[in-house]
Amino acid sequence: MGDLARFSVSIEEDLLAAFDKLIARDGYPTRSEAVKHLVREALVDKEWKGKGNVAGAIVMVYDHHKRDVVRKLLNVQHDYGEIIIATQHVHLDHDNCLEMVTVKGKASRIHKLTRTLKMLKGLKHSDVLMTTTGQI
Ligand code: NI
Repeated sequence: MGDLARFSVSIEEDLLAAFDKLIARDGYPTRSEAVKHLVREALVDKEWKGKGNVAGAIVMVYDHHKRDVVRKLLNVQHDYGEIIIATQHVHLDHDNCLEMVTVKGKASRIHKLTRTLKMLKGLKHSDVLMTTTGQI
């Protein structure tokens, strides 16, 4: 992280009041912390729309008794082996499994994997948490 820089911002009073409400609701200690967080979120969002490398986690829940779901899931993960850096499997109960796939690579490739998983028959839910490789 670089040295701290200061800048002043001109903003409409009602917008600032709404921002302060959001800060209080979300528990940011200061406006600066809130602004830093929001700037990083915007940069991560931009990374995911660009061509560089990003990181993230795909989480899915499925019933492992459903026909073929485990085999299909394994096949997809092998197809995307170059962007999958870790997989964690948790047995939620007798029927349900939660699997978290940690990914790192081109956003377009990760989006493709996410879409492929969403279309996989037998999954109850899947979603991706988009974050950064830490370079911003
Ligand atoms: Ni399981």
